Amino acid sequence: TLNQQYEEKVRPCIDLIDSLRSLGVEKDLALPAIAVIGDQSSGKSSVLEALSGVALPRGSGIVTRCPLELKMKRRREGEEWYGKISYQDYEEEIKDPADVEKLIREAQVKLAGIGVGISDDLISLEIASPDVPDLTLIDLPGITRVAVKGQAEDIGDQIKTLIQRFITKQETISLVVVPSNVDIATTEALQMAREVDSSGDRTLGILTKPDLVDKGAEEGVVDVVRNLVIHLKKGYMIVRCRGQKEITDRVSLTEATEREKAFFHDHVHFKVLYDEGHATVPKLAEKLTLELVHHIQKSLPQLEKQIEMKLTETQEKLEKCGSGPPLDAAERLGFLIDRVAAFTQEAISLSTGEEVQFGD
Ligand code: GDP
Ligand code: NA
Ligand code: MG
Repeated sequence: TLNQQYEEKVRPCIDLIDSLRSLGVEKDLALPAIAVIGDQSSGKSSVLEALSGVALPRGSGIVTRCPLELKMKRRREGEEWYGKISYQDYEEEIKDPADVEKLIREAQVKLAGIGVGISDDLISLEIASPDVPDLTLIDLPGITRVAVKGQAEDIGDQIKTLIQRFITKQETISLVVVPSNVDIATTEALQMAREVDSSGDRTLGILTKPDLVDKGAEEGVVDVVRNLVIHLKKGYMIVRCRGQKEITDRVSLTEATEREKAFFHDHVHFKVLYDEGHATVPKLAEKLTLELVHHIQKSLPQLEKQIEMKLTETQEKLEKCGSGPPLDAAERLGFLIDRVAAFTQEAISLSTGEEVQFGD
């Protein structure tokens, strides 16, 4: 099962990273963040929400108005849910997952004002739970072309600059979210991703809203997901999230996962994508987590160097301390006397500037 696979393959990697961090070996170990980019209302927040299991602000129009960093940490089965939101110099622990959406909206109002403006200020949300994958995801405002009432004329450029700032970073994987009923070749987000990653090494395509594909257009979608139309090294995944009606009807995320599975499994055209492992949010989570493990493995040689450096440094410090206290009780007294004598000599030489010899 996925859980078994996780405990066997992923968990040891994550534990390794955790213990290395606690030793202070972190500098070159920046884990890749995953930025979600796409047009407004393409389904970015819905994908993040499904991956994290936490309701986020989403809907029509501009809803995501600040970059939101979602740091997820998988806890062992049976451990409690933990959440924390922070931005600028504000920090608050979250007791109830149901409060997350409200707190993010409040943060956005504080940072970007009431209304439809955006801000570059990062909102950081930390979540630890047995139900989340070990991933850091970044939700970004969607690409728009036309400013709506109350928005700056250059809102489109502002948003693109903000997105570029995130996806230019080498350790960022871009998830390009494209609705299945939109022509992928004309997608601006994909073009932006290719500008900073021409080989497609760190770009993954995500097709959303497969339930809205027109009759007769399904095989075109299958070709895209099979990487036959616009080739990306990391390829494509297709997911189905809750539509507006399901949200209004309060369909839970758990129920949505069931419905998603049934949707692909029973679909005349898309079942093949399901069978090939290209469909559903849980498969996407699995793929992203494996990307993370792959990244950690790639960083291991560099890590080894860092650890060797730390070791040498520590050994030098240790040598300066001289030999440690002996275990034998009788020898300890002599050791202590030697130490005290050495200390006294040091103290005297510091105060008189001369070396003083002690007799034996
Ligand atoms: P964002 O602006 O890119 O973050 O998009 P949102 O996640 O806010 O989604 C925009 C709208 O699309 C919302 O009303 C969602 O309910 C809806 N939506 C997202 N994914 C799907 C899907 O797979 N199928 C359908 N029918 N609607 C979806
Ligand atoms: Na939206
Ligand atoms: Mg959004």
